[in-house]
This record gives sequence, C-alpha cells and structure tokens, in this order.
Amino acid sequence: MTFEGVAPVLQVTDLAKSFSDDGKDVRAVDSVSFEVPAGTLLTLLGPSGCGKTTTMRCIAGLERPDAGSIHIDGRPVFDSGGRINVSPQDRGIGMVFQSYAIWPHMNVYQNTAFPLEVAQRRNRLGKREIRQRVHDVLERVQLDGLARRPATDLSGGQQQRLALARALVMEPRILLLDEPLSNLDANLREDMRLELKQLQRRLGLTAVYVTHDQAEALAMSKYVAVMNNGRIEQLGRPREIYERPATAFVAEFIGTANFLPGHIVSREPGGAYLVSCAAGRLFIPAAADLAVGEAVTVAVRHEQITIEKGAAPGAAWTGVVAARAYLGEAIDHVVDVGGTRVRVRGNPAISIPPGTPVTLTIAEHGATLLPAEEG
Ligand SMILES: Nc1ncnc2c1ncn2[C@@H]1O[C@H](COP(=O)(O)OP(=O)(O)OP(=O)(O)O)[C@@H](O)[C@H]1O
Ligand SMILES: [Mg+2]
Repeated sequence: MTFEGVAPVLQVTDLAKSFSDDGKDVRAVDSVSFEVPAGTLLTLLGPSGCGKTTTMRCIAGLERPDAGSIHIDGRPVFDSGGRINVSPQDRGIGMVFQSYAIWPHMNVYQNTAFPLEVAQRRNRLGKREIRQRVHDVLERVQLDGLARRPATDLSGGQQQRLALARALVMEPRILLLDEPLSNLDANLREDMRLELKQLQRRLGLTAVYVTHDQAEALAMSKYVAVMNNGRIEQLGRPREIYERPATAFVAEFIGTANFLPGHIVSREPGGAYLVSCAAGRLFIPAAADLAVGEAVTVAVRHEQITIEKGAAPGAAWTGVVAARAYLGEAIDHVVDVGGTRVRVRGNPAISIPPGTPVTLTIAEHGATLLPAEEG
C-alpha cells in the first residue's frame, strides 16, 4: 500500500493495549491505525493519558500489544495473529524520550558511541568504523567540535542534540521522539522545535513525534494524529486538523485558525518579525531564526481577531464582510481582505451584514509563525 505515492516505512494497524489497574481494565490504546511515509514526521497529539507513550512503546517493542500488527518497511515486527514479536534492538528504531538518559559520567563521544559498543556481537562494528560513524553523526547534529566535552557541561539544546545523535548513530529506519523538548524552557523549546524540524527535513528522517502541545505539533509535523482516550479522532495535515476538525473533541483541543501564506520582511529588535501576507503586514514575536524573504505560514486564531465596522484610514487590514454565521454563543464573520478570506470569531452582539467595509485588528501574540507548508 502507498501513501500519497510514497511507501510507508511504518504501518500500525488496529493496535490495542490494555492495562489492569486495581482489577479495572484501562484501554490505553484502542484500535489505533496509522502509516508514516518515508522522510515524513507524524505527530501523535493529545492530552495526558490518551495513550501516546503506550503507542510508542508498542512500536519500539517495549510493550507487548494485545492485538493488531506493526510493520516496518513492509516487514512485520509484531503481529498478534501470526505471533510475531521482534525484539526492540532488531526493529531498526531510534528513540529519544523526555528524559534523554544521557550518561553523565561520559563525554559526548562516549555517549554517542555507547549504543554501537553495546550492540550484540553479530551487529557490532569494528573500532575504526565506530569512530567514523560517531564522527559523522556528531557532524550532522553540529556537535563535532564538542566530542571530548563531558555531557554534563552541555546546554539544554546541546544535550537534546546529543540524545538525537545517540538515537541516529544506529542508523534507524524510524525515529521515535516522545516529548523530547518538554525539559527545555519556553524560548529554547521554540528554537529546538525549528532546529529539530530542519534536521528532520534535511536528513530525510522518518519519525513519530509525541506532544500534548498543539503549537508544537503544528510546527513540527507533516501529519498530525489527534488522540483521545486511546483512539485517533482525526489524522491529517496540520491545516486540515486546524481548519476542519472532524470531531468536537478535536475542535476544542486544537482550536481553529486562519492559515495565511506569507514571507519575512525584516527581523525586529526583541525577537519579532515583520511578516507580509496577501491580507497585510503583521509583527509576530518568534524566537526562531528565520531569514528575510523566507516563506512562512501565519496561523491566526479566529477569536484573536476583532472586527469593526468601517475602513479605518491607514489600518493595515481592511476588507469587506463576505459571509457571517451564528454559532450560538459566538458569531463568525468571513472577511475578504484583498482577495484573502479571513475568518473572525466574536461576540454575537457584533453582527455585521455581508458587503460592509470593516477593519480587522489582530491581538498581540494572536498570530503564530509556522514553517511554510510543504508540497
Ligand atoms: N504500566 C501501566 N500500568 C497501568 N496503566 C498504565 C501503564 N502505562 C500506562 N497506563 C495507563 O494507560 C493510559 C495511557 O497512558 P500513556 O502513558 O500512554 O499516556 P500519554 O498519552 O503518554 O500521557 P502523557 O501525556 O501524560 O505522557 C493512562 O490511563 C495510563 O494511566
Ligand atoms: Mg506520555
């Protein structure tokens, strides 16, 4: 089977796993199916306890599923029917979990070489090959200058990259990343998010990423699977999930937003960018390192925009109401801003008929910068 023309590296089919808790059956994973095509990153997104880590542990072979099958490159590594259960080290998987489990008594080189040195004899490489492999992988994650540095003397971001190097050194077919950024402070987290994404794209890594942070999921992923109570409620492109939530849970968990293509005009002091979209210009705070001219997507939540009658002179975002919809406790206006449709959600006391000129104001921190959409 193919996925948009690309053969999947990972196929998870009807995966189920229960735990018994005080004699009660907890369905941690309940009939979960998804595929990850080569070179793409899929995120499992959902609230605490929805089954993300259990799904990852099943894929890694650290947990034995009750039912379902898992294929890697078309080869079954688990099949409840056929009683196949390949051991974790033979699945071709690299893992980075929340606690990186970096060895504090080892330096960067030793940490990275560790998985190669403890590999079972039949898989073990010679000393010289190990050295070459470690050197290559440290170069890829830009830690090659720090090989002799004790692991404890690295910054949070460098430790993160070391954990990644250690997962990559085995040349896995798939990388499993379970909340790898949750130990970092907010700023570093945003930087690392982009860095990790760029690395994943540049190296063409196939990865499953876990987070409960929806902004992170949107920024990182080609596909997002939104999980709730052990099930996938919706699987799709970030934009689809944001704009067309399939269930009430998804709508509530993700919220809704406009996605506007744009590009970076300039970098402003204090960690913000001036971004130009067809609808107008916006200042958007972002810690990421983006170049002038770089294509981006601006996500603006519907409820972060206020609408006023009349075209205020000089206001950047002026347009004409194209449609409106009553939603009970809120009202949506769709506004045509120079050919771009922008959806605005607000208080039902403000209801403006189609055809009326209006001015839109976007709340400070109401917009988020995402990488430009792929393909
Ligand atoms: N070893 C276990 N024994 C009993 N119950 C477990 C075990 N592991 C997980 N569970 C339960 O299974 C459910 C799913 O847990 P899981 O760790 O997969 O959630 P998660 O989505 O990763 O959550 P978080 O975002 O908090 O990490 C939870 O109800 C959890 O309490
Ligand atoms: Mg978890």
